[in-house]
Amino acid sequence: MNSIIITGGAGFIGSHLIHRMVKKYPDTKIINLDALTYAGNLENLKDIENESNYSFVKVDICDFDAVMAAFRKYKPDGIIHLAAESHVDRSITNPMAFVNTNVIGTVNLLNAARELWKDNMEGKKFHHVSTDEVFGSLGDTGFFKESTAYDPRSPYSASKASSDHFVSAYHHTYKIPVVMTNCSNNYGPYQFPEKLIPLMINNILLKKELPIYGKGLNIRDWLYVEDHAAAIDLVFHKGELGESYNIGGKNEWKNIDLVHLLCRQMDEKLGREKGESESLITYVKDRAGHDMRYAIDSQKIEKELGWFPSLNFEEGLSKTIDWYLNNKDWLKRVTSGEYAKYYQDMYKNREV
Ligand code: NAD
Ligand code: TYD
Repeated sequence: MNSIIITGGAGFIGSHLIHRMVKKYPDTKIINLDALTYAGNLENLKDIENESNYSFVKVDICDFDAVMAAFRKYKPDGIIHLAAESHVDRSITNPMAFVNTNVIGTVNLLNAARELWKDNMEGKKFHHVSTDEVFGSLGDTGFFKESTAYDPRSPYSASKASSDHFVSAYHHTYKIPVVMTNCSNNYGPYQFPEKLIPLMINNILLKKELPIYGKGLNIRDWLYVEDHAAAIDLVFHKGELGESYNIGGKNEWKNIDLVHLLCRQMDEKLGREKGESESLITYVKDRAGHDMRYAIDSQKIEKELGWFPSLNFEEGLSKTIDWYLNNKDWLKRVTSGEYAKYYQDMYKNREV
């Protein structure tokens, strides 16, 4: 492909994907299209920002004209769509932001792709990056398969489910060449410290309470972010049009067990007394409508495309903690909002 627009490239997963694609495909122009919300941080891309095959464009996907202008300027053959409001707790306090970005923003991108590619869809591809949360909540047994019926239960998952349906509908109705992935919980460097693992790392560093929702028995299936980026790259290039692929870590953890492991690893790395961080664990009011268990059956992507997770959890968690310990300034800037200044200084003249 000559040129690929990646939306949400300044976020957690998007920045890992951009690092991978810019280095791996030097002859392809990679355009990062991002509105730079609180979750978008161009510092995440500092080491590749001067690569000749990389550009950044500040666009809100809720603004169709701005999206269309960027599409006409960069004429992408491929779109990998990650831009989203991504935090369940925020969706509970402000669902409309999720409807706007995740639903309307996605449909704007589909409409822009349809317009740009209307004369020739050959060799074009729209990859929609979604979540396992669209499938709802599991009991003690079972796994989400691609064929599992959608049953979203939070405003976040309802907005992602809606966007997934629009993507499928545009494939069936307008023949837009699409692929889709539904992945489990990611962790790793550059994750905004509102999500469980970086929030706990930050609080352990600051010796602040570690808030566990409810009884801490909810289960998530954790995947190292670079393994997700590898899966997206693979599905984008090799996935069958119109198909969706589930991606998971085969790595289920109860929240409370995960936080204990994190505390133990951090105490060791920080040279603190055994048990010091665990004493910060505090049970707090549960999240409204808290999904109990997510677990992915990823046999389809394994068998059809040969993707497997590469890291075991202890290794991945240790690598993640090391990154945060080596990047305390990033954490401080992200939590203080100072990174907005970075954008102003670096990119004030680079808008579409
Ligand atoms: P993130 O919150 O870290 O980043 C989101 C990015 O999207 C930010 O750079 C933000 O500036 C940008 N953005 C938000 N609203 C925008 C708008 N209106 N216009 C343009 N850009 C906008 O999210 P993430 O964790 O990296 O997730 C990326 C994608 O992967 C999302 O679609 C999410 O639903 C999906 N996903 C995430 C996980 C996970 O564990 N984090 C798991 C499965 C799927
Ligand atoms: P989160 O990282 O928000 O991801 P998601 O809700 O999308 O799975 O939360 C992961 C799990 O951790 C979830 O069960 C909620 C729980 N959690 C806490 O117990 N305390 C916290 O402070 C946070 C942010 C999450």
